[in-house]
Amino acid sequence: MTEVPASTADYAALARARLPEDVWHYLNGGAGDEVTLAANVSAFRRLAVRPRVLVDVRRRDATTRVLGTALAAPIGVAPMAYHRLAHPDGEAATARAAAAEGLLMIASTFASRPIEEVAAAAPGRVWFQIYCFRDHGLTDELIKRAEEAGCRALVLTADTPLMGWRDRDIRHRFLLPDGVEAANLRGLAGPGDDLAAVTRDLLDPGVTWTAVERIRGVTDLPVVLKGVLTAEDAALAVECGVSGVIVSNHGGRQLDGAIAALDALAEVAGAICHLSERVEVYLDGGVRRGIDVLKALALGARAVFVGRPVLWGLAAAGEEGARGVLRLLKAELDVAMALSGRPAVAELGRDAVCPAGGCS
Ligand code: GLV
Repeated sequence: MTEVPASTADYAALARARLPEDVWHYLNGGAGDEVTLAANVSAFRRLAVRPRVLVDVRRRDATTRVLGTALAAPIGVAPMAYHRLAHPDGEAATARAAAAEGLLMIASTFASRPIEEVAAAAPGRVWFQIYCFRDHGLTDELIKRAEEAGCRALVLTADTPLMGWRDRDIRHRFLLPDGVEAANLRGLAGPGDDLAAVTRDLLDPGVTWTAVERIRGVTDLPVVLKGVLTAEDAALAVECGVSGVIVSNHGGRQLDGAIAALDALAEVAGAICHLSERVEVYLDGGVRRGIDVLKALALGARAVFVGRPVLWGLAAAGEEGARGVLRLLKAELDVAMALSGRPAVAELGRDAVCPAGGCS
């Protein structure tokens, strides 16, 4: 009998068996010694839930809204480059999976399918991630395309003036394989290209906060800033008029040694809630279980974005696999809400969690 995947880790095992070695390492690796990559996951384990008992949990409500979009659960797909590395259907399949589960996907600038196709696969449920390119014209052209394709928000990545030092890609001499290109940037990144070099050529290492205001000036879409890990930067983001921030260290792929996303969440959420009621706070990095979603919400996130596990599902079984991972996370969250006596995500607060060693 074929076993049924019961966890995102089961999908990881299926993906590993299917993917070429160098692709597996590109998708799963982090920067340097991968201290931050590991810390993103272990931070969730260092936080325990304080379950309440004898609560009526016949009805559980995981629904929420992010920048006005209704979600079946506070979960979205984090921006990740080149989904065709995982499966030939690429981002269109991932977007359909997210939409089928009533969720949301952030499509990467470095997607391997064009934004028009990805947005059409999940109408109203796609945000577009951008970088500040050296060539402002190219950035602005992508923003225009995302607007015309019907994307609902722009996610500006702030933690990548250049690419992190990624041992695994260096060791495996990772180059984009045949059939995989940056479909939004025809000709600028394709088979045989070294991604660190592509990033170095395109991204502007001189970018500062004025870029956020510049980008807000060329679009009416809400702008979300991704890569905020401190109260100081949260305050600057609010000053620049962003609509949301994603507490993220880029899945441990940029600065090894950076604080784990969950460990930074309370500081960022605390700073933002003092400064602005309007700015939404999200988290990505380390979410592997439904209980992790509950913990992040307790510490102030409105929603979480999930990265690698979705690509594990995509690699394992295309759209159905990506959907399977999202469905699993939703189902685990539902069980976690019931068993912790917290039937409404909207009411989750700091009292739902404590340090795993016990509260002092
Ligand atoms: C791209 O953003 C990557 O982390 O590889």
